[in-house]
Amino acid sequence: MKGDAVSGGSSSISPMVSFVLGAAAATVCVLFFMSASPGRSLVDIAAWSHNNGTATQHHHLRSVADAAHNATAVAVAAPAPAPVQQASPYGDLEEVLARAATADRTVIMTQINAAWTKPGSLLDLFFESFRTGEGGVARLLDHLVIVTMDPAAYAGCQLVHPHCYFLRTTGVDYRGEKFFMSKDYLEMMWGRNKFQQTILQLGYNFLFTDVDVMWFRDPFKHISMGADIAISSDVFMGDPYSLGNFPNGGFLFVRSCNKTIEFYRHWQAGRYRFFGKHEQDVFNLIKHDMTDRLGVAIQFLDTTYISGFCQLSRDLNKICTLHANCCVGLGAKLHDLRNVLDVWRNYTAAPVPDKRAGKFQWKVPGICIH
Ligand SMILES: *[C@@H]1O[C@H](CO)[C@@H](O)[C@H](O)[C@H]1NC(C)=O
Ligand SMILES: *[C@@H]1O[C@H](CO)[C@@H](O)[C@H](O)[C@H]1NC(C)=O
Ligand SMILES: *[C@@H]1O[C@H](CO)[C@@H](O)[C@H](O)[C@H]1NC(C)=O
Ligand SMILES: *[C@@H]1O[C@H](CO)[C@@H](O)[C@H](O)[C@H]1NC(C)=O
Repeated sequence: MKGDAVSGGSSSISPMVSFVLGAAAATVCVLFFMSASPGRSLVDIAAWSHNNGTATQHHHLRSVADAAHNATAVAVAAPAPAPVQQASPYGDLEEVLARAATADRTVIMTQINAAWTKPGSLLDLFFESFRTGEGGVARLLDHLVIVTMDPAAYAGCQLVHPHCYFLRTTGVDYRGEKFFMSKDYLEMMWGRNKFQQTILQLGYNFLFTDVDVMWFRDPFKHISMGADIAISSDVFMGDPYSLGNFPNGGFLFVRSCNKTIEFYRHWQAGRYRFFGKHEQDVFNLIKHDMTDRLGVAIQFLDTTYISGFCQLSRDLNKICTLHANCCVGLGAKLHDLRNVLDVWRNYTAAPVPDKRAGKFQWKVPGICIH
């Protein structure tokens, strides 16, 4: 996550959030009704995630609630449990995983807060990349679990995606964007790491992807059968098994087995051993020791296929994913990724000979991309 700082964010308690918390049961019915209408986009989420305009939101809710009453049968069938009514520490996590997983118990996971669900924001671009991607990458959305960090993000997710999970956390307000290396940022990153360990312990392999990664083609074919962990590279040095590559945990595949669970235990312990460091630094500090002691095979992914702004793949015929890494600030990421998608749309619309001839190139320089 190096250079993935994001900025801004409100820390006051939003009236909407308290409203959602106070009326969670009603919200479930309402949400289900809304998600049953096809063609809704993230524009609708605006009403949920803005910190102002409570009156508008109530009005919006009321009319939707009316509609829900007119379709009581539908509302009663609402399958999603309210996020605040969980008895088990993981809530409905196992249900969500079971629904989303492939036959070999693999899920794709991303994690968002309300700041990323606004219309035209990263989650929109993320979905669009799948939908304009090649080789059936859109089908992978069936296996995507969106982990949300606050009630507004959960509500927003429910409108656009079938596999949403609300990760309840304590001590940190996850709604706003987090400054790189702030206390909240560290807390969030280590929380994410701990959550990944939970997924492994439940017996699921996962491919974690930051939401600022564009998915153009299926990346799984570049993950080796022999790898216990496959991690993207900020800088790829040429040998996928060399620990000298620079990893980026924003795109990370981990196979669930005893070795990798043990690896995560040591990783978490490193938080206290190397106090104040973020999880990626600790990964670098323990990787040699852990690969020797536990025999964990770590594959570093080639940036020709699994790319990012740090080391940009210029071959549109080969690229599978593109991460807005080495890029600070939500605005900068959005600006550059929008241009990336514009080029990609033109590329996919072009005749095959033009594609093969390499006529398409990213628009550089942008704010971060170069
Ligand atoms: C509410 O937020 C929206 C978008 O952030 C802004 O355009 C609008 O002016 C705000 N309204 C009030 C009353 O603050
Ligand atoms: C619900 O049904 C009532 C009576 O049939 C109707 O007046 C009202 O407009 C409907 N509401 C919505 C939101 O469809
Ligand atoms: C993994 O660990 C469990 C519990 O310690 C043990 O029962 C099991 O045999 C181990 N599996 C493998 C493949 O080593
Ligand atoms: C995409 O193609 C259109 C039509 O050829 C062109 O006008 C536009 O500039 C292209 N956009 C990019 C980003 O290459």
